[in-house]
Amino acid sequence: MIVCICRGVSDREIRNVVSRGASSLAEVRAELGTGECCGKCSQQVRELIEQHAPAGQACPSGAACACA
Ligand code: FES
Repeated sequence: MIVCICRGVSDREIRNVVSRGASSLAEVRAELGTGECCGKCSQQVRELIEQHAPAGQACPSGAACACA
């Protein structure tokens, strides 16, 4: 399923980068470009990170988080 319509990024692609260690919106954005246009996908990307990041590695900060 496409999560980021602006960049054509699917949930599978997001889960893949999370499984390789991305644990924040900033890290997923750096790899896939999600959230760089309208930003409407940010909440769903955050939820995918929380659901699929290894325990304790998901960034608890909000959409503006730039931690890595
Ligand atoms: S839907 Fe992701 S930036 Fe627009």
